[in-house]
Amino acid sequence: MIAIDGPSGAGKTTVAKLVADRLGFNYLDTGALYRAIALSLREKGINAENSEEELRRALQNIEIRYINGKVFLNKRDVSDMIRTKEIDHYSSVFSARKIVRDFLLNTQRNAALFDNLVVEGRDTTTVVFPEADKKIFLDASIDERARRRFLQFKEKGIDISLEDARDSIIERDKRDASRDVAPLIVAPDALLIDSSNLSVEDVIKIILDYVKN
Ligand code: DC
Repeated sequence: MIAIDGPSGAGKTTVAKLVADRLGFNYLDTGALYRAIALSLREKGINAENSEEELRRALQNIEIRYINGKVFLNKRDVSDMIRTKEIDHYSSVFSARKIVRDFLLNTQRNAALFDNLVVEGRDTTTVVFPEADKKIFLDASIDERARRRFLQFKEKGIDISLEDARDSIIERDKRDASRDVAPLIVAPDALLIDSSNLSVEDVIKIILDYVKN
């Protein structure tokens, strides 16, 4: 198993998918699971102020599945619907709640029943799969991550300014790294890669070399 963590916009999804393809491994985007939960909670009218008990009730009857790069919420394919500015925000907000993290722990660990897995997220190297064979922390400067995020949104026709993309990255970084449960930290045994000045191919090469050694 190869586990890759890092902040938003560092290029985890692009790189993890390609590494999985090249190695013939399965791929799990744990952020997509948190996004699907956020979508479901928003559809149920839940926001950051709701209590743990209200969240617990709202989580009942939610079934999340990740199949071949697509995420299903109670059998509905929500893969595209979870890539919005609103879900960027709420996935970060709800993922700070212990009950949400506990809810997704088994879903993530069940994916490890596949031996050959590339998994990416915020705590896959530290909390979900601390025993992963290879661990990577993929980072990049805030400016570079904001630029990538801005381009991703533009490609999808979502209207956002570079400044807004930057502000949203800074806000999520702060929340994802400072929460009490499973914050984003660098695992002591992870290989740290700063992708600010690297191409996707450069990063993949570093990872494949590391995995093969
Ligand atoms: O990787 P992403 O941007 O799709 O993740 C969306 C949010 O989900 C992110 O702001 C933090 C949360 N997340 C998490 O807390 N733990 C993970 N393993 C993956 C994502």
